[in-house]
Amino acid sequence: MARYSHIVGWGMYVPERVVTNDDLAKIVETSDEWIRTRTGIRERHIVDKPNESTSTLAIRAARAALEKAGLPPTALDLIIVATSSPDHLFPATACIVQDAIGATRAGAYDLSAACSGFVYGMAMAHGLIVSGQADTVMVIGAETLSRLVDWSDRNTCVLFGDGAGAVIMQAREEPGGFLASVLGADGSGANLLTLPAGGSKLPASVDTVRNGDHYIKMDGRAVFRFATRVMAEATREVVERAGLTLDDVELIIPHQANTRIIESSVVKQLKFPPEKVFINLDRYGNTSTASIPIALTEAVEQGRVQPGDHIVFVGFGAGLTWAAALIQWAPPTPELPTWKRFWYKVWYPWSRILSGYRRLRRRLFAAWLGTKERSQEELESLRSRTRRDTE
Ligand code: UT7
Repeated sequence: MARYSHIVGWGMYVPERVVTNDDLAKIVETSDEWIRTRTGIRERHIVDKPNESTSTLAIRAARAALEKAGLPPTALDLIIVATSSPDHLFPATACIVQDAIGATRAGAYDLSAACSGFVYGMAMAHGLIVSGQADTVMVIGAETLSRLVDWSDRNTCVLFGDGAGAVIMQAREEPGGFLASVLGADGSGANLLTLPAGGSKLPASVDTVRNGDHYIKMDGRAVFRFATRVMAEATREVVERAGLTLDDVELIIPHQANTRIIESSVVKQLKFPPEKVFINLDRYGNTSTASIPIALTEAVEQGRVQPGDHIVFVGFGAGLTWAAALIQWAPPTPELPTWKRFWYKVWYPWSRILSGYRRLRRRLFAAWLGTKERSQEELESLRSRTRRDTE
């Protein structure tokens, strides 16, 4: 029996705080006009509460995708979080999401391929599903790049936004779903877009902080040139791999970095009709790994995606990396019955209680072990005292 991997759930979340171009013009030497004409961005959402982070955005997107799919978190076999701004170097942000949503059967890991990461994640999920190693995989793209940009560097701070998007891919017998992918990398361009410090090569120190090495550094023009080339090439290649032509593609959802990159690659080089290219970067900026799943969720909500449609996802990013995937949209999932909606409302608080219980049990066990070790020490000292007394 053939197995296909279909997208059966999708969801997104962006933080509430909106920062407009005019707001940025108050902190760096820039203007709404420059940002709009050079990038297409009008505003972006950024985290402004101390308790918000990549995982909190990812958790909201994950819950939305589960509700859309009508699946319980326990149906997930694996959670992949593609991100360049994880909560920590380790543990993986995916594990924090796994615990928060109560996906108790799922494995979880983070994937680092910068803005191409979400499409890389989908390709991994597809491979596991069609080979029978997993039935249901959640792929999340989530970022809080606002925590990594230098807010005094106008070359980068105007570009990025925070947000998260998620899809659930599931094994189905009906043909369609994920049809082809192209994954690429060229590490010779690693220096063009990088966050130099905080890893093993340049660990955090007073000097790295003083030099601003914990902020994103980018050669914008070089990345621009690379992006316009690979976006067109990867799109052409993935369509060929799927045995289709560009005329068969109903929608292209590109990585939302810059309207000029999208126009000069997909629209001009491929001569693809602009009305069949989905763009929402004017409202979110470049949300890196989250940009494609956020755009997909909005495209579905706006009725731009119909069952049977062929959709291309194509992205590029630091690494340098690039990735494209071609999917055939699955039939829509049925509306959730009321009892399931109620179930979702109780599941998340319940999974928090269970997680708290596991933490407590671990602490009690550690405390008990400590007591045991101490009492063994006491026993040992008693023995040696007894030995001394008898000698
Ligand atoms: O997900 C991947 C992430 N990275 C990207 O997508 C970046 C790709 N690159 C780009 O999108 C574009 O290269 C940028 C939007 C970053 C820059 O646009 P550009 O048309 O390539 O501008 P530029 O770098 O050639 O700079 C033109 C001028 C420069 O001034 P001078 O040297 O000509 O006097 C910059 O200093 O614009 C200046 N500039 C700005 N001016 C006002 C750069 N940033 C700003 C700014 N506001 N925010």
